[in-house]
Amino acid sequence: MAHTPTSTSRSLAIDEGKLNAFMGGFVRDLGAVMHAATIVVGDKLGLYKALADQPLSAEDLALRTETDARYVREWLSAQAASGYVDYDAASDRFSLNDEQAFALTVEGGPAFIPGAFEIAVAQFKAIPKMISAFRTGLGLGWHEHDAALFHGTERFFRPGYAANLVSSWIPALDGLHERLASGAEVADVGCGHGASTLIMAEAYPKSTFVGFDYHEASIAHATQAAERAGLAGRVRFEVASAKAYPGRAYDLVTMFDCLHDMGDPAGAAIHVRQSLKPDGHWLIVEPYANDRLEDNLNPVGRIFYSASTFICTPASRAQEVGACLGAQAGEARMNTVVERGGFTRFRRATETPFNLVYEARP
Ligand SMILES: C[S@@+](CC[C@H](N)C(=O)[O-])C[C@H]1O[C@@H](n2cnc3c(N)ncnc32)[C@H](O)[C@@H]1O
Repeated sequence: MAHTPTSTSRSLAIDEGKLNAFMGGFVRDLGAVMHAATIVVGDKLGLYKALADQPLSAEDLALRTETDARYVREWLSAQAASGYVDYDAASDRFSLNDEQAFALTVEGGPAFIPGAFEIAVAQFKAIPKMISAFRTGLGLGWHEHDAALFHGTERFFRPGYAANLVSSWIPALDGLHERLASGAEVADVGCGHGASTLIMAEAYPKSTFVGFDYHEASIAHATQAAERAGLAGRVRFEVASAKAYPGRAYDLVTMFDCLHDMGDPAGAAIHVRQSLKPDGHWLIVEPYANDRLEDNLNPVGRIFYSASTFICTPASRAQEVGACLGAQAGEARMNTVVERGGFTRFRRATETPFNLVYEARP
């Protein structure tokens, strides 16, 4: 054990084994961070999709994607070193195995991951603004981020909704599937690009849906998506905040991954209560979290706390009240928010490794 002076007055007693373990983690982490940028480029240029068709040399992949062969070779080497493509040294060709192709090229599939790295791009772009926010304590609104955040969120979250929302989350709420199947009025609040709204609308043709979000650009995007999906007759999108959206008799209000982003979640809960029929449902989907910090110190908590530092917490701080629940709010804190809205029943209806799904009733 060596004693090393630091730039502070503290003298450090370095345990070499612990330092080596820490530095091993650093090598893994730095590799992941540097690799993230190459994933975004490969996704945007269609490199993964072209490679999914058949094993290719760097030159052939470049030809098919109209890109530069030398850059593509370096990119492929980075992918192979990261385990994102397979490399056959004998033929000097690269390929995607079935699992890699599933996760990297099946847009909307349950394992599609490139959207997540667009969120990381937005985080990096927000560094100057966040340095300032740490000093001033001011917020950084959702709308003030790079557009990569809005697109990345839609692309990363939609697979989870496609895999779970209709098949397990809605059926986990008391009688909700039957109600939607026979025709219900639904408000999807904080809908973003409307991925969840459109998935529900496709599944329940007798119901009508309105998506609300305060972010104008997201509402414009969602409106176009509804038109493209041929759902414009039953689905509409409007700019409105969670405390002021119109309507007084919804059968169902949904909030996907947005309640903790709001400045005044309890105020929103009061408005949800007023907008529901007396026997209505409030479906709240939140990031998976335990109640205590020490129980969230794991790989999933790591992702959520990091995103929350840059995105969710400053988004809430930018709005009135600025409750700053954070992405790891947990069930107990959500229960308090819902109770303050005047709801009498609240329960965890179901969960996935990434999400908690709550049901609240008036
Ligand atoms: C993490 S995104 C989730 C978007 C969408 N629900 C999804 O799951 O893809 C959070 C969304 O909440 C919206 N939002 C935040 N505060 C809001 C508020 N007070 N009223 C309405 N929308 C809000 C943001 O504009 C953003 O679209």
